[in-house]
Amino acid sequence: MKDLDGLMRLEQECFGAEKFSEGTLKAFLVRDDAFALVAEDEGEVVGAAMCLCSKCRAEGRIASMAVLAARRRKGVGSLLLREAEKSLGMLGARIFGLEVDVGNEPAITLYLKHGYSLRAIIRDYYGAGRHAYMMEKVLPSRKRKVSVRPS
Ligand SMILES: CC(C)(COP(=O)(O)OP(=O)(O)OC[C@H]1O[C@@H](n2cnc3c(N)ncnc32)[C@H](O)[C@@H]1OP(=O)(O)O)[C@@H](O)C(=O)NCCC(=O)NCCS
Repeated sequence: MKDLDGLMRLEQECFGAEKFSEGTLKAFLVRDDAFALVAEDEGEVVGAAMCLCSKCRAEGRIASMAVLAARRRKGVGSLLLREAEKSLGMLGARIFGLEVDVGNEPAITLYLKHGYSLRAIIRDYYGAGRHAYMMEKVLPSRKRKVSVRPS
């Protein structure tokens, strides 16, 4: 909760009318299955990733990503995405999923660059006529370790 002001600023700047209200943001942050990562530069919150890890822990979700406009195209989004995957991975997730507006070229390009694939279109996901791509990244399955022991 200590980053609430910085997170609200990001919501306002990056999502405008569709931003989370302070109440919604607070409710998200206290969920057992949710966490936020912030990118900080000399005490200023310049970006954030909001993540969810489902109960079965097999699938992690990137609920949203945001970087202040003046800080974009400098690798902050990539850094946040890598750290989000690392944190979700430590909770056991082997699949990362997200939804993104079909017209959001910067975000779609970012996700494709990080190995996400288009899985489906969800019609009217953001309201009438505003569709979303469901995107997913599946980690390669862990190799089983074969051990040899005296019988
Ligand atoms: C999407 C977003 C988080 C990307 O953050 P960022 O810090 O600019 O991302 P990066 O600098 O790590 O960019 C990584 C790559 O993504 C792609 N990319 C990022 N912005 C792009 C743009 N405007 N146009 C095309 N490709 C873009 C590029 O391939 C880029 O690599 P490059 O700069 O070497 O060409 C940022 O644009 C943002 O906050 N947008 C508004 C909120 C939003 O739409 N969030 C996503 C939906 S939840």
